[in-house]
Amino acid sequence: MILPIYVYGQQVLREIAKPVDPNMEGLDTLLNDMYETMKNADGVGIAAPQVGKSLRVVIVDGTDIAEDYPELKDFKRYMINPEILEESEETSEYSEGCLSVPDINCNVIRPSRIKVRYINEKRQEVTEEFSGFGCRMVQHELDHLDGHLFVDRVSQIRRKLIGGKLRKLETRNFHPRYKIK
Ligand code: NI
Repeated sequence: MILPIYVYGQQVLREIAKPVDPNMEGLDTLLNDMYETMKNADGVGIAAPQVGKSLRVVIVDGTDIAEDYPELKDFKRYMINPEILEESEETSEYSEGCLSVPDINCNVIRPSRIKVRYINEKRQEVTEEFSGFGCRMVQHELDHLDGHLFVDRVSQIRRKLIGGKLRKLETRNFHPRYKIK
């Protein structure tokens, strides 16, 4: 089922999401709904707070953009209770966007490599290292679980420049391509 996406200004996007019991009733339905919602909006990642659920669950799927980023050919992960174990001192800069912050893209600096432990959709514990664009996608989604949005991480000047657009999102003065809340 396609769910409405919570947009900038909604409180749930600012909350610290709660850990999930991997055997929670309805978790598979939530994962399926999140996936469908992400695909419908042409997203490459989604976190549960973006569909109004303050739970530590994210999905990343780069397979649709593998033409531009060949490293993402098989890059699709469901992550329950993900936890960053290590992050590199080395950083890199990528342009980011977000389904909850439509029509805004900004460069964000983040660690180049991270190591993450999570439970996958088969309920197996996985420890995995990420680099490149996939690493960027994972960090962006994990940020959502701690109430952070990518626009919080841009330079002050850039932030000022997008201030008007953010206010339009807050006041719902825009035309989304997908169902929002
Ligand atoms: Ni996002």
